[in-house]
Amino acid sequence: MHTTIPAARSAPRFPRLSPRARKTVVVAHVVSSVGWLGLTLGNLVLAVTGMNATDPARQHAAFLAMAILGETLLIPISLVAFASGLVLSLGTKWGLFRHWWVVAKFVLTLVAVVLTPLSSVPGLRELGSVVSAAPADQLIDAGEYTSGLLAAGCVSSSMYLACVILTAFKPGGRTRFRRG
Ligand code: HEM
Repeated sequence: MHTTIPAARSAPRFPRLSPRARKTVVVAHVVSSVGWLGLTLGNLVLAVTGMNATDPARQHAAFLAMAILGETLLIPISLVAFASGLVLSLGTKWGLFRHWWVVAKFVLTLVAVVLTPLSSVPGLRELGSVVSAAPADQLIDAGEYTSGLLAAGCVSSSMYLACVILTAFKPGGRTRFRRG
């Protein structure tokens, strides 16, 4: 007598990317993630310029540029970098939890993606409104905003730089997870 063994149920897998789809996602990922690093470095330079400016026009221009970049680009670029990283991980042999370098990038970027709309963008928006309300010929005392933005800029630039280094060297070997 034959007994039939029920097929093992397996959780649905993320579809593997075709070579062309993978290249397309790599383009989106590199442009957005390295663009994000460039944006934070640019904002750091503007923060230092604004903090040290003795000319009100130069100070206002630096801070307004930070506010404009923060309000327009920061959230979309962070989301595209994060989402394309997820697709590249899940849709390729790398997986999301199979290699320590991918797990590390995932955690670092997740922290940044959450903090960007909760902390960085509101801070930049506030700085922008303080500058817009200030008389054109007066320096503003932006210490309370810029010290926070300076710290956030240093930490986030280091995190994204770490992501690039993790990608290039892929340290840490495999985790115990075979799937995901
Ligand atoms: C600011 C954050 C990030 C930066 C700066 C970054 C940077 C990069 C760079 C420069 C590449 C190189 C592409 C290539 O040479 O083919 C890459 C690839 C990749 N990234 Fe990211 N990434 C970030 C976030 C993420 C996240 C959050 C994940 C996963 C959750 C991820 C997963 C991957 C994977 C799987 C690859 C493909 C590696 C390969 O095929 O060699 N990345 N990333």
